[in-house]
Amino acid sequence: MEATPSTHTTTPPSRQRPPASPVPWWRWPWILPLALFSVTFLLYAVPPYLGMDPDQARLPIPESPSWFFPMLITHIFGGALLTLLVILQVWPWLRTRHPAVHRWSGRVYVWAGVPLVGVPALLIAPFSSTGGSVQISNTVWAALWLTFTLLGYAMARRRRFAEHREWMLRSFALIYGIAFNRVLLIVLMTIMSPRLDTVYDGDFGALALDVAPASGFLSWVLPLLFVEWWIKYHRRARRGRPSTRAA
Ligand code: HEM
Repeated sequence: MEATPSTHTTTPPSRQRPPASPVPWWRWPWILPLALFSVTFLLYAVPPYLGMDPDQARLPIPESPSWFFPMLITHIFGGALLTLLVILQVWPWLRTRHPAVHRWSGRVYVWAGVPLVGVPALLIAPFSSTGGSVQISNTVWAALWLTFTLLGYAMARRRRFAEHREWMLRSFALIYGIAFNRVLLIVLMTIMSPRLDTVYDGDFGALALDVAPASGFLSWVLPLLFVEWWIKYHRRARRGRPSTRAA
């Protein structure tokens, strides 16, 4: 049974579960575009790996270590599951109307995400064939995701729900880094394309290789910055709201 906030309770507001939303499910205009974006990304990103053939991979697979490709496959299938779970987790209607679904999909997000997505990402990141900058950026990205996710889980276990929400929002931002990377790469390539002939001698591959580290880094840093702004904005808004507790 869900604990409902009461005006007579001594539980601090940060430890109270949010009240059920009176707003119908279709009044969250961003949830449908987010779901469409996620599904479109998965339909593009995952199919080359379904046959488990390293030759079909979108990135060059290093010969050593031998476990790179199995880890990458585990990471991608786990990542597909997490991309779908994030939609459920951030949907306010589902979170407040069906808190049990939120709790269970949240447990799957952490318990499946850490061993299937975060740990494999951390293991393969130092071996990326795209060079040292990408290896460093990807390693920091994976380490931060594991840290934010585990902190979010720990805060929920301690019933510190305000902090739980903030850490999980940071974790979700990092999960979307990979999908955002696809969009950002196209944007950066378009911006740099006037230099194709002058700087890169018309070699499109050289241009893509040059842009990839910036795109890979910005694709998780920018969503994280956006979420940090969002968290601060909502903290300020909450502070400005009149208290519902009896004076
Ligand atoms: C915190 C989240 C994530 C981190 C830290 C992360 C990290 C990584 C790393 C280190 C690689 C290897 C890149 C290389 O060798 O150059 C990789 C590849 C890949 N990841 Fe993730 N990833 C994350 C989330 C996801 C999610 C949610 C998906 C969804 C399916 C996903 C799908 C892929 C795919 C498809 C590749 C292969 C590259 C490609 O085909 O373009 N990742 N990721």
